[in-house]
Amino acid sequence: MNVKEFIETQLEEIKRTVGPGNAISALSGGVDSSACTVLAHRALGSQLKSVFIDHGLMRAGEAQEIVQVFAGLGIAVDVADKKKEYFAALQGKADPEEKRKAFRYAFYSSFGQEVLKSKARFLIQGTIAADIIETQKGVKTQHNILEQIGIDPEKGFGFKVIEPLKELFKQEVRLVAKELGLPESIWNRMPFPGPALATRIIGEVTPERVDLVRAATSIVEEEVAAHKPFQAFAVLLEDKGTGIVDGKRHFGNIVIVRSVESQDAMTAEPSPLPWATLMKISKRITAELPGVTRVAYELTSKPPATIEYI
Ligand code: XMP
Repeated sequence: MNVKEFIETQLEEIKRTVGPGNAISALSGGVDSSACTVLAHRALGSQLKSVFIDHGLMRAGEAQEIVQVFAGLGIAVDVADKKKEYFAALQGKADPEEKRKAFRYAFYSSFGQEVLKSKARFLIQGTIAADIIETQKGVKTQHNILEQIGIDPEKGFGFKVIEPLKELFKQEVRLVAKELGLPESIWNRMPFPGPALATRIIGEVTPERVDLVRAATSIVEEEVAAHKPFQAFAVLLEDKGTGIVDGKRHFGNIVIVRSVESQDAMTAEPSPLPWATLMKISKRITAELPGVTRVAYELTSKPPATIEYI
């Protein structure tokens, strides 16, 4: 792929599709939506509004970090607080596809509200090739896929979707993001799924359980940083295990540590992390997170497992 040509073609295409109207970019801060936002901003200037939905399921400090990075590029980002809507949508749901469906609905209806507010007709989003292929194959329904599962966004939510990156794979998106002037902290960022920490919680997604998995994720990310895995995170299981808390038996939480190596997320292998790193993660999680009695390292490749847990 010629990166410069790709960018030029997409700028023209976005301008042509949107015409004189307004568009909204759905920015999550990941490499895909960040590259899309810069592309769309270059193509549309003040016709574009960039919106970061704060659904309460992001990693620690993420909203502030993204606003700051984009301010550095001269792109203002509106943060829309939708925590109540997302937690209400997820309440009482334990089935993985039910959770994904609830998240997807909350995602598009929150953007629908933003689109209505700013009289836009287009939503620009960072769907990439792997998202579409895996949804078509039935591996799982990625949160940002509508067409392939028979939903017409215009009928359902009142806007058309533009997906400039839908033919690219992750490594190509990284090259585009770099060429667009995004900082390395973004173009080289670990993939993070649209449904965010909800993909790493088995059972019901509650604010308390999200807090636990968020804190465990920070520990995992800090400790594996030097090894630069493709993706690494913590997962909260629904099962419990007995341990000792304050000298007494306690039937506590089980946290799984997952770290994988991959090129395009279509296949993956567990990272061969050093024992000392794994032990440090385990000791920190049990010491810093009250109520976690067990930590395990995941040894399954993709396939047969997927990378995320739901
Ligand atoms: P799985 O778990 O299917 O994940 O092996 C493959 C890659 O995709 C990410 N992922 C998602 N990304 N929306 C996204 O934008 C989603 O619904 C979604 N589900 C998984 C996952 O983090 C991994 O990099």
